Amino acid sequence: MLLVIEGIDGVGKSTQADALQAWLEGAGLDVVRSKEPTDGPHGRELRRSMVEGRLPPRQELDLFLDDRREHVAQLIGPALSAGRIVLLDRYYFSTVAYQGARGFEPDALLAENEAFAPAPDALFILDMPAAVSVARIRAERGDGVDTFEVPEALERSRSIFLDLAKRADYALVIDADATRDAIQDAMQARVRALLSAP
Ligand code: TYD
Repeated sequence: MLLVIEGIDGVGKSTQADALQAWLEGAGLDVVRSKEPTDGPHGRELRRSMVEGRLPPRQELDLFLDDRREHVAQLIGPALSAGRIVLLDRYYFSTVAYQGARGFEPDALLAENEAFAPAPDALFILDMPAAVSVARIRAERGDGVDTFEVPEALERSRSIFLDLAKRADYALVIDADATRDAIQDAMQARVRALLSAP
């Protein structure tokens, strides 16, 4: 089973991933937790660009795609084949939303990713206005935002995420301004339904 948490920066994805992982493992299930960008060479180069300045759009897109191809081949694919639960903090929906916000056609990005990356069983989109998420980042980190965390661009990414959700039956949009427990309850309810489905 493939579970994916998405949303713009600052909505609390990793906190919810931690809680979901703990809950699944508490139920005795075998969970492989991962994230994108990965800690591999492409992911590291992308993280550098978050501090030093964004790469040209095509180069940036190619790095996200190469990073994901390796991730699918080395970790996601084998774990799913072994019957494990894979829990991801970001996946190809981030490419559609962020590189879409940079000018690439979202539907073409989606098709390019779906050609090699398995679709999730559940996609959780944590949603809040970009102005609120950026204010949260500033308050929590106490310093500036990185090169991806520009409110206008994030608002475009947000609207692409919401569009995606309308067209994917595996997607669930959750109000990220709700309490941590309320968000987690909504996620667990969806996973419980998947686990008990025939
Ligand atoms: P983020 O999850 O914030 O990484 P970190 O582990 O460093 O917190 O992801 C880094 C940024 O990359 C984030 O602003 C979203 C962006 N991103 C894309 O633009 N496209 C993608 O395909 C992915 C996976 C992330």
